Amino acid sequence: MTEQHREIDVLLDEQRTFEPSADFVAAAHVGDRGPYDEAGRDREAYWEAWARRLDWFTPWDTVLEWDPPFSKWFVGGTLNAAYNCLDRHLQARGSKTALIWEGEPGDVRRYTYRELHEEVCRFANALKGLGVGKGDRVAIYLPMVPEAAVAMLACARIGAPHSVVFGGFSPQSLRDRIEDAHATCVITADGGYRRGGIIPLKASTDAAIEGLDYVNSVVVVRRSAVTDPRAAPHGDAVDTPSCDMTAGRDHWYHDLIAAADADFPAEPMDSEDLLYILYTSGTTGKPKGVMHTTGGYMTHVTATAKWVFDLREDDIYWCTADVGWVTGHSYIVYGPLSNGATVVMYEGSPDWPDRGRFWELCERYAVTVFYTAPTAIRAFMRWGDDWPAGYDLSALRLLGTVGEPINPEAWVWYDRHIGGGRCPIVDTWWQTETGGIMITPLPGAITTKPGTATVPFPGIEAAILDEEGNPAESGYLAITSPWPGMLRGVWGDEERYRETYWSKWPDIYFPGDGARVDEDGYYWIMGRVDDVLNVAGHRIGTMEVESALVDHGAVAEAAVVGRSDEIKGQAVAAFVSVVEGTETSEALRQELRGHVAAQIGAIARPADLIFAAELPKTRSGKIMRRLLRDVAEGRALGDTTTLADPAVVRSLQQQFADSEA
Ligand code: WTA
Repeated sequence: MTEQHREIDVLLDEQRTFEPSADFVAAAHVGDRGPYDEAGRDREAYWEAWARRLDWFTPWDTVLEWDPPFSKWFVGGTLNAAYNCLDRHLQARGSKTALIWEGEPGDVRRYTYRELHEEVCRFANALKGLGVGKGDRVAIYLPMVPEAAVAMLACARIGAPHSVVFGGFSPQSLRDRIEDAHATCVITADGGYRRGGIIPLKASTDAAIEGLDYVNSVVVVRRSAVTDPRAAPHGDAVDTPSCDMTAGRDHWYHDLIAAADADFPAEPMDSEDLLYILYTSGTTGKPKGVMHTTGGYMTHVTATAKWVFDLREDDIYWCTADVGWVTGHSYIVYGPLSNGATVVMYEGSPDWPDRGRFWELCERYAVTVFYTAPTAIRAFMRWGDDWPAGYDLSALRLLGTVGEPINPEAWVWYDRHIGGGRCPIVDTWWQTETGGIMITPLPGAITTKPGTATVPFPGIEAAILDEEGNPAESGYLAITSPWPGMLRGVWGDEERYRETYWSKWPDIYFPGDGARVDEDGYYWIMGRVDDVLNVAGHRIGTMEVESALVDHGAVAEAAVVGRSDEIKGQAVAAFVSVVEGTETSEALRQELRGHVAAQIGAIARPADLIFAAELPKTRSGKIMRRLLRDVAEGRALGDTTTLADPAVVRSLQQQFADSEA
């Protein structure tokens, strides 16, 4: 038994049962596990019933066409994602708050469904005026401001697939993504607030698109001028000098909106038309553009947002993710708005101006459903119980986590100190590729245990398989049948799609995670089994970091592995050999760490960077990452018999020990 398993045994009395949601009960014709059985009997009919909850311009002919590894859902149907998030609510909920936004300095904006609809229509007209049409790719590089949601929905309204790029990514990362998708328009901001400072996104955009002639328009949201101190109770009124604007190419968002018509009929999109591309890290090469289409994706996120978060008419729902990640796409924008929920959005850091900021927001807006990442929970734990205790969190009734395995201590802390022991916790397993939540408890219907995402959502079929594809108690997580929100491919690279996800077993999806199943049939996700790291819930490919390192003139060879980190789950550990004649020094170490951050983004900055005279290799010249992981974890080395020169790792261990000291 590992230490974690022992702990879980101790915590098993933490098993919780709650009342299932009314919507779930209504769907349960055959006892409280009804939808599970129903989906098991006829999965397509079950998903079809969810699709009927959306508004379609024309109905589909066929629910599913499965030509492995390609699936098409609701074939022949037409709909529009923005229409489903906005227009269809106007009659019943036109004056209901759709979005409550708070900036880091403390400025607040609210949009009703009617107001959000109008803004999206205006911006759709503005984009159209700039020449953006159906099928054109638009890059969105924004801070967490309402315009991020507006921009996504305006693209969806036109039928122009968006590619949202996290604002923390470097100009080079933005450029790679713009180039890969051949985006012709970029939507950005002059800046965004983070820990009291301003991140100069427009300057980064200018650097990113230099020389890319096909980028013919840049829309700039004016963000960085909160000049009225009353509007910024938490921050200094920072008025930065305005950014550079290139005549003919760059346009202020507010000018475009003011001049645009408020009427823009939503474009009828084929169910299988591309809704967006979102880049994510893999084992090899540059990040890949995961493609999501319209009908199946909207069905999946609408269903899961409704049942997993048990969304009710009066909920105030807050997901703390950034729209730059899939969680922001599916569970800030498309899923909750499709359900007509009131969504809270926050721009800044959880510790600004102090470590109570999230709880202050929960209190102020009486948040009822709260969805965050285990890495954040572990940071809150470390900051101490007094921070949440200082605020009224009594409105909370449901908590969720996503992004990485949650350790039982963090689960229990979350339950007690945030949920007050009265809120079900939904630990949701899914990926950029899956589009929506796949493995999760349904509050009330599934008894939770700390540390497990429990069972597949009704209509999702999963298994744990060994290398050969035989069922196993412990092995690889597998998704054994197609689901509506599944990725439809990798943008411009069909081979990579087949190779990455469908080559391990025939016609079965391989997510890249290890897992085990317990006596109740619950899934325990153990983390990635490939060279993808999960740092603070963010996916980083070791190859990307290695490429960034060898791009530096002083580096001859680099190998990157993950090591465990108490708060972030994993941290990046880099082993570097320098080119002959280069002196290694603390200054060079810092320079290289900074180089990675500048190349990719701060999230990829190595926590440890160890200089190695040589990297440990097999006799055939393959770098032995397994041994590097042992070194980075500071543990005894595994089997070293295939190592060409054992002295190499011994010296690395010594250096690692020295660097830790
Ligand atoms: C990990 C984020 C354990 C997993 C939505 C997956 C999790 C990767 C969980 C996807 C969870 C996500 N328990 N591990 N509840 N949720 N993961 O694409 O390794 O950024 O493959 O999507 O995060 O990360 P991505």
